Formats: sequence, C-alpha cells, structure tokens
Amino acid sequence: MKKITIAIDGHSSCGKSTMAKDLAREIGYIYIDSGAMYRACTLFCMQHNLVLADGSIDTKTLEPLMPQIHVSFQLNPETGRPETYLNGINVERDIRTMEVSSHVSPVAAIPFVRKAMTQQQQQMGIEGGIVMDGRDIGTAVFPHAEMKVFVTASDEVRAQRRYDELVAKGEPADFDAVLQNLRERDHIDSTRAVAPLRQAEDALVLDNSHLTIEEQKQWLIEQFHRLTD
Ligand code: CDP
Repeated sequence: MKKITIAIDGHSSCGKSTMAKDLAREIGYIYIDSGAMYRACTLFCMQHNLVLADGSIDTKTLEPLMPQIHVSFQLNPETGRPETYLNGINVERDIRTMEVSSHVSPVAAIPFVRKAMTQQQQQMGIEGGIVMDGRDIGTAVFPHAEMKVFVTASDEVRAQRRYDELVAKGEPADFDAVLQNLRERDHIDSTRAVAPLRQAEDALVLDNSHLTIEEQKQWLIEQFHRLTD
C-alpha cells in the first residue's frame, strides 16, 4: 500500500511531537520534528553570537552562513527515539532549553531560514511514509499531505506539560516563565509574514486538553485507519 504523508501542526507544547512519534512508531513511518530544526538554527545563532542584546537576530551575518547549517536526525539505539544533530554534533538536550525556546520564534520568522528548512523538510518527505510535526507542515511544507491534524489545548494545560517535562529532565523551570514563553511564541508564530501558524482548511482538529497520551494516540491511529483502510 502506498505510504502517505502526515502533517501534524499546532500550538507550542501541546503534545504534537509525542503524538507524532507514537503514530510513526505504530505504523512504521519516519518521524521528523521540524521544530527541532528551527531550534538547531537558533542554537547555531547563539553559538555564533548572532542574537543581539534586544533579542533580534543579526540576519546580515546569518544569511551567508546558512549553507553551514546542517541538521539531521539519528535514532538513539538505547531509547529508540530520534535525536537532533547540528553539523554532526548531538544537540538534542541543548535545543530544548528555555534559552533556545526564548529565541526560536524570531529565528523561525526569518524568511531565508524558513526557505532553507522548508526545502530540507520537503526533501526528507519526498517518498511519503513520513509523520512531520510543526506549525506550517499542512499549509506550506506539504500542502497536499493526505492526512492533516491540527492540535491545540488550553494555555495552562500546555504550560504545565512543558514545565513537567523540564523538571523531569532536571532543567531549571518556572511555571509563569514557561506560560509567558509559550504565549509569546504562539503570538509570533501566528502573526509572522511567512507561513504563519494556522489551521489548514482540510485538517482534522484535536483539542487534547483533557485527553491522556494513550487516548490521543488511539484517536490518531483511528483517524489514520479511517483515511487509509
Ligand atoms: O515543542 P514546542 O511545541 O514547544 O516547539 P517546537 O515544535 O520545538 O518548535 C519551536 C519553534 O520553532 C516554534 O515556536 C516555532 O517558532 C518554530 N517552528 C516553525 O516556525 N515552524 C515549524 N514547522 C516548526 C517550528
């Protein structure tokens, strides 16, 4: 049977990546975390002092450096989960910090950054059989994806999930700062000029505020079979 393309978009910290990873594992598809690619670009900017004091990005210096940014994913054999590499170095932990979260949306709003990442994402999905999560996958990266899901949940629920995740990893975390960060990112992501976060017209919508991980996984698998059986 032909393998389809699955796009999962939605607001910050709403559990898209957990859903997407679970689904990909269940149906034997490749999972790509497009947000990790924007986070890796942000880490690159931080490493090259391209984040200016006012939080804006030195785009003049960044643009010619774009060909030097290579983001890839490799499966960690111990956890069975894909991890993010920036120029051959494992940055999975470094890209999930609050510092990266606080700079990523301005970086992801830069048109030439989006162009470069979108091209790489389209290349990764050229043969189908992929589950990709992000903000613009069903609208800009794969507008013809056979299955599109738009996920959301209340701000407080999302902030609690991200806070718990940071605490579990032993990262410093402050609930109010996490809540403020996700509201700011949602605002920047939804109002940027290029490929803003929005629900594709043909997306299935899921508010998972009151669903467990297992329940959302079952919902997604049901939708997949409904579309493909
Ligand atoms: O995990 P979380 O939902 O907090 O965010 P993420 O998926 O890791 O994405 C981090 C940031 O990258 C988002 O806030 C967006 O600014 C940006 N992003 C984007 O612009 N387009 C995508 N397809 C994916 C992420």
